[in-house]
Amino acid sequence: MTDSPTPAAALPNWAALDSAPTLLAGNTLAGRDLLRLLDLAPAELHLVLSTAVAQKSAWKTNALQEVAQAPYKDKAVGIIMEKPSLRTRISFEIGTQRLGAHPAVMSDTSSAFSRGESVKDTVQVLERFVDAIVLRTFEQSKLEEVSQWASVPVINALSDDFHPCQGLADVLTMYEHKGDLSKLKVAYVGDGNNMAHTYLEAAALIGFELHIATPAGYEPNERIINECSAAAAEHATGAKITVDGDVSAALAGANVVITDTWTSMGDEGQAQKRQQAFASFTIDAAAMAKAAPDAIFMHCLPAHRGEEVTDEVMDSAQSAIYDEAENRLHAQKALMALVLAPTA
Ligand code: CP
Ligand code: NVA
Repeated sequence: MTDSPTPAAALPNWAALDSAPTLLAGNTLAGRDLLRLLDLAPAELHLVLSTAVAQKSAWKTNALQEVAQAPYKDKAVGIIMEKPSLRTRISFEIGTQRLGAHPAVMSDTSSAFSRGESVKDTVQVLERFVDAIVLRTFEQSKLEEVSQWASVPVINALSDDFHPCQGLADVLTMYEHKGDLSKLKVAYVGDGNNMAHTYLEAAALIGFELHIATPAGYEPNERIINECSAAAAEHATGAKITVDGDVSAALAGANVVITDTWTSMGDEGQAQKRQQAFASFTIDAAAMAKAAPDAIFMHCLPAHRGEEVTDEVMDSAQSAIYDEAENRLHAQKALMALVLAPTA
C-alpha cells in the first residue's frame, strides 16, 4: 500500500495532546502505512500522540473496562522481526493483544522472509491472514517493497534508516516530561544512524530545535537531512536543525539529551573502529551539566553502559529511559488503533 501525508490545514498545538480523538472522526490514518515519520503530516502525528495519551490514561484508570471494550477482536497483526528485539517485539505483541487483535509473531530463522520466497508471494499470502504487517528489517527498500505488494497497512519496526515507532514513543515521553514539544531544544549526541534520522523527521514535523553532534564521517544521511529541511519548510513548522561535531554547543541549554549505541545492529564488524571515533561523545554527568538544569536524558535502549552513556546518567533522576520504553506500547497501540480502523 502506498500513501502520502494529508496536508495539515493549520499547525497543531504541541502543548496540548489532551484532545479526545475517536478512531473514526478525523482519522486520516485508517489503512495507512508508517514506513518513516515523514509519512505523516504534523496533524496526523498529533493525532497519534493524542490517541496514545487518551488510551494510556484510560488503561491506567480502568484496564478491565479497556479489555472488555477492545475494538479489534476480529483482527490479526503479523509481526516479523529480522533483527533481534526486546522492546519492539514485546510492545507490539502486548499492544496488539490489548486492542483485542491476535499478534502473529515471526522472528529470526522462522521469519516469513528467511527461506528465499519472493516478497510478493510472502506478502500476498500473509495478508490473507493478517490485517496489518509490522516488520523489523535491514534495508528501507524492503519495507517499501512490502508496502508495494500489501493491501494492508505496513509499519516499520526499525530499519537501517529509520525507527519511527521509537520516534512516536520518544516525542510522547518528551511531552509528558517537558510539555510544549515545539518549544524544546533537543540534543542528540552520537551516531548519525536510524535514530538520528528519526529525530530529524520529528523535528521537521513538530518544529523543535534539534542539534545533532556526531564525529566526522558518522553524520546522518545527507539526503534525509535535505528531505527533513524540505518537510519543515513545506509544513512551515519553524524547525531549527543543526548537524555538526560540536558536542558542547549541542548540549548547551538543551531540554532533552539523547544518545544511542555507537554500533547499530548490522554494524558489529565496525565496533572497535567506532569505539575510537566516538570516544569523546560519551554522555556523562559533566555532559549533562551543560544542558538545562532540568533536562531529561533519553536513550531508545539497549544501552552500552560505559560507552555512549555512563551508569550515573542512566540511573540519575534526570533519566527518562524506562518511561520511554513503556511508551513504546502506548504509542504503537495508538498507531495500530488508527491504521486498523475502518476506512471511510
Ligand atoms: N529500542 C528498541 O527498539 O529496542 P529493541 O531493539 O529491544 O526492540
Ligand atoms: N540504532 C540502534 C537502535 C536499536 C533500537 C540499532 O539500529 O541497532
